[in-house]
Amino acid sequence: MAIHNKSHHNHALQALNKMRRENLKTKSSKDFSIPEKTDIFLCIADCLEVLKSLPDNSVQLICIDPPYNLELENWDVYENYILWADVWLKEAYRVLSPNGSMVVFGGIQFRDAKSGDLIEIIHHLRYHSEFKLINTIIWHYKNGMSAHRFFANRHEEAIWLVKGNDYYFDLDSVRVKYSAEELKLALKDKRLNPENTIKGKNPTNVWEIGRLNGNSKERVGHPTQKPVEIIRRIVKALSYPDSIVLDFFCGSGTTGRVCIEEKRNCILCDSDEKTREYFDLHIQKMRELGCKNEFDMDDSYKEFISKIKARATTIQNLKNGEMT
Ligand SMILES: C[S@@+](CC[C@H](N)C(=O)[O-])C[C@H]1O[C@@H](n2cnc3c(N)ncnc32)[C@H](O)[C@@H]1O
Repeated sequence: MAIHNKSHHNHALQALNKMRRENLKTKSSKDFSIPEKTDIFLCIADCLEVLKSLPDNSVQLICIDPPYNLELENWDVYENYILWADVWLKEAYRVLSPNGSMVVFGGIQFRDAKSGDLIEIIHHLRYHSEFKLINTIIWHYKNGMSAHRFFANRHEEAIWLVKGNDYYFDLDSVRVKYSAEELKLALKDKRLNPENTIKGKNPTNVWEIGRLNGNSKERVGHPTQKPVEIIRRIVKALSYPDSIVLDFFCGSGTTGRVCIEEKRNCILCDSDEKTREYFDLHIQKMRELGCKNEFDMDDSYKEFISKIKARATTIQNLKNGEMT
């Protein structure tokens, strides 16, 4: 039986081919001016309240790690998960800029009780949204719980979604350097473009990044805190300096910390008051590691947006890889 090559249906390839045809170059973070200070707006509220207050097409990157009904915490219980998720997924699509991206973390988990998981979200988006799936990212970690009745789990997943084929992607900012040995060999490989080889390799869609252990120095106390390194790769590749990143299930505010470090503005939202304490600890740890980047904590979205507008560098629409 012949197996058809469906790679031409892949949105990432379609976008690349379109850019090649039109002889357009991808934008990289180097093409943007770096702000002296960035802005963070932290809001303790239900995510829908915050989403509804944001204008259409205003956010470059949405990076979320939603609750999945696992009943790990009291925020993690929903009667009809997908009915609830559908509301914030629709709002997320509305607020995302045409060249923006959304990354949703999750896992594949159903056994006896069938609650929400990433599979359910993917299935729902496929049939009920205009989002296009660019990559499924496998987050592989070597440290984790042991198991006796099944294979010990060593990965979680994240999906990268876009609105259209003109999405912003700065691969160069997240390339992984070759070792001296590997580089020598790679430069001899005729299939590889030497200019890109020198810049480093594509990190691929399998990311090996350690999970935070209980005693990890990065920990600020949130039970499901994500490592800074994994969020950094997403923020660097899918947003640009001074653009707006949104995390409406921000937990400890890992996304906000990375945005300060990488000079992006950030809207953080969580329904739990403790987020403020966690976020203060993130900032303390960031300072201990020597990051001196300045930022303002704004009390209202109005204040946040007026400051960004004053700098007049953000909410630029990148159309066909060019700034309008
Ligand atoms: C998986 S955690 C996010 C952890 C985060 N990625 C980090 O690195 O710290 C999900 C968060 O969603 C929040 N949450 C649950 N339901 C919410 C809602 N309806 N609106 C806003 N936040 C909510 C919870 O309080 C929890 O902190």
